[in-house]
Amino acid sequence: TVDPGRAALAALVRTARAEQTVGAVRLVDIAADADDTAAVAAVRSAPGEDVSAVRDGGAHVQRLRPVPEPDALTVPREILPVGGTALLTGGLGGIGREVAGYLLSALGARLLLTGRTPEAGLGGERREALEEFRELGEVAYVSVDAAEGPALEAAVADAERRWGRPLDAVFHLAGADVRDHWDALEAHALTAETADGLAAMMRPKAGGAQALEGLLAARPGTAAVLFSSVNGFFGGSSFGAYAAANAALDGYAERWAAEGRAVRSIAWSMWDRTGMNEGSPLAAAARHRGLRGIDPARGVQLLLAALARPETCLLAGPDPANAYIAPYVTGVRRRGPAGPARAAYSPPEGELEREVAAVWEDVLGVERVGRDDTFFVLGGDSLRVMRMIGRLNERFAAALPVSAVYDHPTVRALAAVLS
Ligand SMILES: NC(=O)c1ccc[n+]([C@@H]2O[C@H](COP(=O)([O-])OP(=O)(O)OC[C@H]3O[C@@H](n4cnc5c(N)ncnc54)[C@H](OP(=O)(O)O)[C@@H]3O)[C@@H](O)[C@H]2O)c1
Repeated sequence: TVDPGRAALAALVRTARAEQTVGAVRLVDIAADADDTAAVAAVRSAPGEDVSAVRDGGAHVQRLRPVPEPDALTVPREILPVGGTALLTGGLGGIGREVAGYLLSALGARLLLTGRTPEAGLGGERREALEEFRELGEVAYVSVDAAEGPALEAAVADAERRWGRPLDAVFHLAGADVRDHWDALEAHALTAETADGLAAMMRPKAGGAQALEGLLAARPGTAAVLFSSVNGFFGGSSFGAYAAANAALDGYAERWAAEGRAVRSIAWSMWDRTGMNEGSPLAAAARHRGLRGIDPARGVQLLLAALARPETCLLAGPDPANAYIAPYVTGVRRRGPAGPARAAYSPPEGELEREVAAVWEDVLGVERVGRDDTFFVLGGDSLRVMRMIGRLNERFAAALPVSAVYDHPTVRALAAVLS
């Protein structure tokens, strides 16, 4: 059986790699009764892999498999029938509102929405959405923390009495706001992250899933749809705690699926103009790494596609052809770390290029940066982008936006912008 806590480790390892916290880090999952020699041999047989498992004397690695989208896009009956009942934790958040609106208008579903905010405290968009939903159908909102099992159970039992039928599905969207990370990337790198920071990310997602596990135990026919993030698979610079929480969520999905439940965990890349990523300064960095933005209408389409697929864990948004994604996609052999190859060395020309190259060498910890080197190929992540642009702005009393390096990613091009 899957241990969701351990599932979170892979996300921490990939975050450590992305942040270059340590020279080398690998996660090897070895069964307790494995033969040591066979295990070591199996691990050696998969060099360059960041995450592998040894089972029956052989090494297994994680790969993504592109799957086609089904033609007919409707919510399958076994997840939520027409007129069915659903709990949406975090249901008044940005994505929750899109999902609730769809379930109400397309399925005539009866909904129980939750969040921590008391109804009287709901402001702006959330209050308006709730009023609108109540005109569309039967919608209740209850203020309850997703990780509070007994309170959640009481709210659901109460709704079931009103509905006169059991809960058909849970859509678990509760997630801690990551917006405060944007101005504090250094503070959320793995070497600086605190136990409180980790707990804050874990509580709504993994704590919420644990509470749901209790709720679901008494409701074997209830389906579960978990809203996870691509960070859970790929890790994320300065988002290690968030990544771990999402990987744990995927772990719960695997565990419930193994018990025979209808369950999906969908790991999204950023939704455009929606919810916690609205206005994110990291959108350009994500796109560069093949994590495409998702228009809300497309998001609902992808949700329906994922529900119609038989797989438990799906990623929505990554571009399998992107150089950072491709090494994780089945059929593509990994050659060294993920990402495109480094350009042949040609020395920086002129004072400006030499200064830019020197800042890059310092920020990236790389020697002999050439004028055609690309910041991201040398291991630049969003945290290092911020540091590097900050250093250049200070040095040249300039005001380059962070996006400059995405549009002009080589030393030569960035120096030209500075000049
Ligand atoms: N937006 C994206 O691009 C994106 C991408 C990948 C994954 N996701 C995932 O999708 C889910 C929804 O995201 P979103 O963008 O809609 O976020 P959002 O707008 O911030 O909504 C999240 C909701 O969760 C609620 N919440 C937070 N902590 C809670 C807790 N402990 N118990 C109960 N409710 C809690 C919040 O309401 P209260 O403050 O009232 O509690 C809020 O309404 C999240 O799990 C997120 O990680 C989003």
